[in-house]
Parts: sequence; structure tokens; C-alpha cells
Amino acid sequence: MAGSGIFGEIIDGDVFKYYADGEWKKSSSGKAVSIINPTTRKTQYKVQACTQEEVNKVMETAKAAQKSWAKTPLWKRAELLHKAAAILKEHRAPIAEALIKEIAKPAKDAVTEVVRSGDLVSYCAEEGVRILGQGTFLVSDSFPGNERTKYCLTSKIPLGVVLAIPPFNYPVNLAVSKIAPALIAGNSLVLKPPTQGAVACLHMVHCFHLAGFPKGLISCITGKGSEIGDFLTMHPGVNCISFTGGDTGIAISKKAGMIPLQMELGGKDACIVLEDADLDLVAANIVKGGFSYSGQRCTAVKVVLVMESIADTLVEKVKSKVAKLTVGPPEDDCDITPVVSESSANFIEGLVMDAKQKGATFCQEYKREGNLIWPLLLDHVRPDMRIAWEEPFGPVLPVIRIGSVEEGIHHCNASNFGLQGCVFTKDINKAMLISDAMETGTVQINSAPARGPDHFPFQGIKDSGIGSQGITNSINMMTKVKSTVINLPTPSYTMG
Ligand code: G3H
Repeated sequence: MAGSGIFGEIIDGDVFKYYADGEWKKSSSGKAVSIINPTTRKTQYKVQACTQEEVNKVMETAKAAQKSWAKTPLWKRAELLHKAAAILKEHRAPIAEALIKEIAKPAKDAVTEVVRSGDLVSYCAEEGVRILGQGTFLVSDSFPGNERTKYCLTSKIPLGVVLAIPPFNYPVNLAVSKIAPALIAGNSLVLKPPTQGAVACLHMVHCFHLAGFPKGLISCITGKGSEIGDFLTMHPGVNCISFTGGDTGIAISKKAGMIPLQMELGGKDACIVLEDADLDLVAANIVKGGFSYSGQRCTAVKVVLVMESIADTLVEKVKSKVAKLTVGPPEDDCDITPVVSESSANFIEGLVMDAKQKGATFCQEYKREGNLIWPLLLDHVRPDMRIAWEEPFGPVLPVIRIGSVEEGIHHCNASNFGLQGCVFTKDINKAMLISDAMETGTVQINSAPARGPDHFPFQGIKDSGIGSQGITNSINMMTKVKSTVINLPTPSYTMG
């Protein structure tokens, strides 16, 4: 159970502690932030409302701890990460329980998130050993006008303190996707979890604590964004920010100083369906891609752009699959569970009502109870409807019928987002042309968008983000290149 057994020390009464300087602590604010269970809409957990002074302390210790961590052998950093991964996987049950209660993640998906996170940490340890164990060697006579008198050696060095801010929908997985690359690369790490998802994050951090990482190297600070959000992201002690979330990321990137940023800020992933596509495959991918975790994934299929001639058949196939989705509490492992908050449900409802008023065809009756919204496919959506462009982050999927492939590409590219997209066709040549034309960070051919496997590059363009993630890219992003040039008095050639 969350907060018990080996996790007993992370809670005080009914308030979870924050983690700093290798210890679990109560905030001097004496205040707590409540975490509302999306299913019951009642307070499930409480976390510390940390103060700006506590943020300052965490930054100081993070800076000091990083200096000696950077001198810790790479193999030893990897060893500790492997240990943390094993502890995380061993204790998947209480962490999954927190995910179920805080963010209404279906029971099996909650366990999968924790296991996937352990695997990510292990892979990152191995990848780090490989890529950080190598540098480059350059000689000067390859550039015009130079003789072979300079040898340049490069290596990758840490940035310093990395601030990680994961989103509510994958609080554990998207936290470790920042923590593990930062640590293997020799950085220290300050984690600011989302409020919903904070308790799962605190449990995950305890697994790193139990693995024996040095004091102060990892910190987890909880609290109100209004109190510590800007203070953290604008803190002079931060040397890199890795953020996943909504358009708050745009504000952060405007305010952050001259530091590397890794941002993933959502998407409006288009699914373009051509006449020759395997429509059973398409329907299965639309339902999985559009409705898993109730559409609360940045990589969810968020608009279907289907050729008019096959639209009726496809919509019928999707409708019959949607009818089979189970709707209810996450504890019962239902396919569709309550969305994360009442305000999110209200936003989704606003998009649905706008589409209704403007004449979209409802393939199912719109139904909502509290934060639980039944899956809804909206056909005959037109570009003047908000749902054609906005990201519902809920189980509502618009279908736009297109007269040509160009129309589909145009709609995809007119979005301010550019995370992923997908195209379904049996013609690989057409698929490649469409993929090249789509202004998105990734295009999936004959499958729904997805971030994983976690070592694949993952990036958005336009408002979808800055930089590229995935294990290798994250390790590289959290380092900088350092060169040493050896200057020789006379040209020197190998083998004389
Ligand atoms: O919500 C954003 C996540 O990066 C999506 O990850 O494709 O594994 O669901 P996923």
C-alpha cells in the first residue's frame, strides 16, 4: 500500500514528505497541497507545500552534490541506476496504486508504467556507459591551411543541476526519462512533480534513495506552482530544464535563462487514412491511439483525416470497437476512466458542445458523470470547429473527411502543434512522400503515434517542443562538449 512498508518513512501523519539532502522532510510552511482523486473527486493524498527558501536550500545541495558525483566513475553511476531500476520494479504495486488513485490510470497500465520506467533506467545506464565512455579525436590537417600540428580531444561533460518537470499523465515514466539521463551524465537532479502524480513520484524517488545515491544529488520538491513554479524555473542554480506538459512550457521557455531546454508540450496528432489502407488495422489503431488512457496522451490520435470514399466504412468499424470499450473506475482496469480533473472535463465538454452546435455527427450519445466522459467519436467535423484544432486530452475524437491527400497534409501542417502523425496505406512510396510532407517530429507508417520504445528519438516541432528526447538524445542533451587541443611544435604523422 502507498506510504507503508518500505515507504513508511516518506509520510508524516497523512501528509507525504518532500525529499532533500538525502532525507524525507516536512516543509517549514506547515501547509499541505491536496491531491484530488479523479474518480471520487475527494482528497486522496496530501503533499508538502514547500517554500522558496526550501527551493534555495535544495539548489545549494544539488550544486555541491553534483561536483563529487561528476567524479564518480561512470560504471559506478550505472551500477546505482541499475539498482534503483530493480527496486522500482520490485515495488511496482504501491507505486501503481498511487497512479490509480491520483491520476485514474487503469490498473494494468499503472503497473506497466512502473515496469517500463525500471527498464528505461536500466537501458539508460547501459547507453550512458557506451556513449559517455567515448569521445572524438580530430587532427588539424583536414582543414585547409593547417598542418598536422593540432590534436583535438573531445568528451561530454555534465551541465550541472538539471530541473525535471514531468506531467500528470506519466508522472513516473516521464520523471525517470529525465532523471536517469541526467544522473548517468554526471548531473544532479531536482524534481518538481505534477501535483496529481506527486505521490507516485515520491515513491519512485524513494527507490533511488534506497539504491544509495549520494545525499543531495536527487531532490524532490512539492508544492503549489503559484508559489514555487516560476521560482524554480527561473532559479539561477538551474543549468538545464527538461519539461513535459502543456503550454506552460512556452511560458517557461520565455522566462528561462541561457540554459539548454528540453520541452515536450503536446500535440494534435493527425491520422491520415488513404483509400488502399487496411481498414481493420486502421480502426484498431484509431481506438488504441485515440482512447487509451482516455485520450490523455500527448501522442494520442487527436484527429482522423480520412478519404471520403472509405470514410463510412472506417467510421462504422471504429464505432463498433468503441462500443466494446469498458467505462468506469481505474481500479477495475476499465479502458475509459475519469479524466484527471473537473476543469479538464469541463474543457472537453466545451469542445464537444462547440462541435454539436456547429453540426458534427455524434456517433455515440455524449455522456458524462463527474470526471468520467464516455468515449465519443465525432464525424463530419469541419475546420471551423474547435475540436478540429484543439487538444481535448480526453476520450473525444474528431473525424474530418478529406477529398485528397493534400487536404489531409494541409490540415496537419496548419496546426500549431507538430508532435507526431500517422499515415495508413499499403503503398510505401506514397507513405514516404506523405511522411516527408508532414510537419511533425515523427510520422508512424501503419501504426498509431507513440513515444516508445523509450530509446527512439522523440521530438516535436512548432509549439510541440524544443529538442529531442529518447534515451540517447536525452543523455547527449544533458551534457556539453569539452575540447582539449594539444599543440605540437612540428607536424606529426602516424607511423612517422
Ligand atoms: O503524453 C505524452 C507521452 O510522452 C506519450 O507517451 O506515447 O508512450 O503514451 P506514450
